[in-house]
Amino acid sequence: MTASPLVLGIETSCDETGIGLVRGRELLADAVASSVGEHARFGGVVPEVASRAHLEAMIPAFDRALATAGARPGDIDAVAVTAGPGLAGALLVGVAAAKAYALALGKPLYGVNHLAAHIAVDQLEHGALPSPAVALLVSGGHSSLLLVPDVATEVIPLGATIDDAAGEAYDKVARVLGLPFPGGPPIDKAARDGDPAAIAFPRGKYRDGTLDFSFAGLKTAVARWVEARQAAGEPVPVADVAASFQEAVADVLTRKAVQACRAHGVRDLIVGGGVAANSRLRALAASRCDDAGIRLRVPRPGLCTDNGAMVAALGAEIAGRGLPPSPLGLPADSSLPVTEVVVRWADADSGDRYDHGIARIAARQPQHAPVKGGQTGAVAAGDGEQASRPSGAVGTSPALWARPMDAELAAWSRPAP
Ligand code: KG4
Ligand code: ZN
Repeated sequence: MTASPLVLGIETSCDETGIGLVRGRELLADAVASSVGEHARFGGVVPEVASRAHLEAMIPAFDRALATAGARPGDIDAVAVTAGPGLAGALLVGVAAAKAYALALGKPLYGVNHLAAHIAVDQLEHGALPSPAVALLVSGGHSSLLLVPDVATEVIPLGATIDDAAGEAYDKVARVLGLPFPGGPPIDKAARDGDPAAIAFPRGKYRDGTLDFSFAGLKTAVARWVEARQAAGEPVPVADVAASFQEAVADVLTRKAVQACRAHGVRDLIVGGGVAANSRLRALAASRCDDAGIRLRVPRPGLCTDNGAMVAALGAEIAGRGLPPSPLGLPADSSLPVTEVVVRWADADSGDRYDHGIARIAARQPQHAPVKGGQTGAVAAGDGEQASRPSGAVGTSPALWARPMDAELAAWSRPAP
């Protein structure tokens, strides 16, 4: 049996530059560089600051991950990258880096979905995902319930927030309480000394029977409550507000997650995304799943927040099965739907231009090769030329096209049953 491919994972959808290395379901390296400190004074992520930080962090993080894994660039068998959803400029940096690595190494490229990666990362800790499973995905940008027959090929949305994401509510409430950004960890900490029943904050869409969420009303209720205390000249009991807010979030998330499992006859729940690092959410999910006879899987907190390991984990699952890679004209898509686990299409305009550019570079190779005759006609190709991936005819550049990516993929068979 062939060894599982060594997959490089690149994550840049928000403010973490993550580089992970995974072989099969084994995590070999997880280098994360965060620009969170640069955003703190703005109270939220500034997209352009994040993009520039990704540029600076990318190569050092890559080097660090390889050193940790004791690997060389040539050992990498495939490159996976978050293609979306996320901040457009931030995604672009990761996608461009991934294309460069894939191209330079002559390896297949997989543009994958950030949300599916938050689910797939659990395999690194708890083994193959059960099928089907329900996933509760809670992060700074998303709060969703998903039915997951197969994380590499099929993810079905069951419900989502109709306004703010849970993490967004944490970040905004922290601001109201004068706690630092991002708000999840300091609220989690402050809540430990507070009474979760001190204030009855509203639970949006609690009994509406849907699998959707709403956190905007809760966030506003907390802000109004705090403002009223301040207006009355009374001190704000930060720990009690944090604990009561957190209880409302954890209550509605876990209630609907169990409801989703019951509605679809599913016995396994996976919780992922940055908010899954929350101690109260983890504890309440554990006790409610226990009561309902549902098996619960939650990755360790370090793998819940954004990282490269999750992208490598999903890439390894996809590449390990020999599924087809993404085109080199892969676009970054800030609103990539969760149903699209791997991006299989190239941007109609820039993607074609990108592949066209690659074709021209490859066609130019013979000119520089010491023993080959000049093929200047190929170099002079105009813009009206057909824009497509180079075929075997331009396979004269040994580094680039000597081993076509598809042939490489065919060498990786599914693991024996
Ligand atoms: O998944 P993630 O790292 O990035 C996105 O994809 O958005 O999630 C970041 C979110 C932030 O809103 C942050 O406040 C929240 O996760 N978060 C937490 C905790 N740690 C991070 N929320 C609650 N409790 C935590 N311990
Ligand atoms: Zn995330």
